[in-house]
Amino acid sequence: MKPEQISNSFSSDRNGFSISGVKLADIVKETGTPVYIYDAQTIRRQYNQLRANLPERVEIFYAMKANPLLSVIEILKNLGAGMEIASGGELKRCYNRAIPSEKIAFTGPAKTDEEIKEAVKMGIYSIRAESLGEVNRINNISAQNNRRTEIELRINPLKGIQNAIVKMSGGPSKFGIDEEKMIEAVEYSSGLPNIDLKGVHIFAATGINSREAFLDNVANCFRIASIFNKYSTVRSIGIGGGLSIPYRDSEQELQLSGLRQKLEDMIHQNGFIEKNNAKVILEPGRYLVGQSGIYVSRVMDRKSSRGTKYVLTDGGVHNILRLALIPGTQQPIINLSRSDVHETKFDIGGPICSSLDFLGKEVRLPSNTNEGDYMGVFCAGAYGFTEGMHEFLSHDIPAEVVADSGKYFIARKRKSSEEFLKEQTVLMELK
Ligand SMILES: Cc1ncc(COP(=O)(O)O)c(C=O)c1O
Repeated sequence: MKPEQISNSFSSDRNGFSISGVKLADIVKETGTPVYIYDAQTIRRQYNQLRANLPERVEIFYAMKANPLLSVIEILKNLGAGMEIASGGELKRCYNRAIPSEKIAFTGPAKTDEEIKEAVKMGIYSIRAESLGEVNRINNISAQNNRRTEIELRINPLKGIQNAIVKMSGGPSKFGIDEEKMIEAVEYSSGLPNIDLKGVHIFAATGINSREAFLDNVANCFRIASIFNKYSTVRSIGIGGGLSIPYRDSEQELQLSGLRQKLEDMIHQNGFIEKNNAKVILEPGRYLVGQSGIYVSRVMDRKSSRGTKYVLTDGGVHNILRLALIPGTQQPIINLSRSDVHETKFDIGGPICSSLDFLGKEVRLPSNTNEGDYMGVFCAGAYGFTEGMHEFLSHDIPAEVVADSGKYFIARKRKSSEEFLKEQTVLMELK
């Protein structure tokens, strides 16, 4: 994959590689490597493209877990996105960026009483209850705070979804209430005095890579919502996120054309949605921010061992763990310092003492790749920095930078290994 195929904000000329018109060399001079760089224009393009292909009734809530950097949240807020959050910490990020409470939905298992209390007091769009135990806790905490709280029940569907990379439906799950127990749960929850049951939420999969699979998932959500609606009026249907982006040449861009009309038809066919004036909430993460990000490291060494050629970089997999977590995962890796056409296959390893620490194996790179070159892991804007285990081996934690129309700023500064030490205490008695 070439950088220009991933985003038209990425370009190379004889002055080197640029992001949104900003020279990579200028950024790394200030931040050092490794560093995460996000292009704001790519996020705007993805959001606008998706928005244009959705009916008005469908609202976009950004799944903040994909990239919770405040600057990324700010960009999406300004485009009109609501927020899908999964912790009290993410709720604090919403306060910080002044996200309107009616645009925040709180999903996720094992919420603490403190987290529920904050959400109850803020009066957010909905708390997605993952079990009846959680429904009871929301009811009790709402009563203690003299509130009535809007909730959705998260349902674990019976039917699995086709054409997705990670499926989260069709079997036992720690997420949500099993579909076969839904009616009982609806009847119970709608009888509680401090609960306002507004609808249903389903997150069936991530990595949905075809329009048909996406529509199939929506149809399943509407089917479940229509059963729910027989027992309690559905005013909100959360249809999850999970829209994929291509990570390699063999993967197609998700085709959105025609989606708007197809969704409008489906909404019309499910008459209760228009009758109840129900909202449909789509909560993508990866699709909105994935292609905006590059994880840049520097080549420190090049060597060969028993027939395998290695390039070793100062940025390891500890800052981009998904490459090690999900078997078979690959992201485009490009030498940003050279354009030599002669290619050789290299294994690209980082500085971590673990056999998992490879950014890629058998990656085709210019044959003259060498010390000092900048190596970019692309499509790193979602589940990149945030999913890292940054303190492993006590390296500095990379800075995060945002580039936008010829300018850049350090959105989160590099954290030096000395700073970790200041956070620790050693008792004298340990001597
Ligand atoms: C409840 C929920 N909503 C939305 C998302 C976002 O998924 P994606 O980034 O694949 O769009 C996730 C991801 O795990 C999730 O758990």
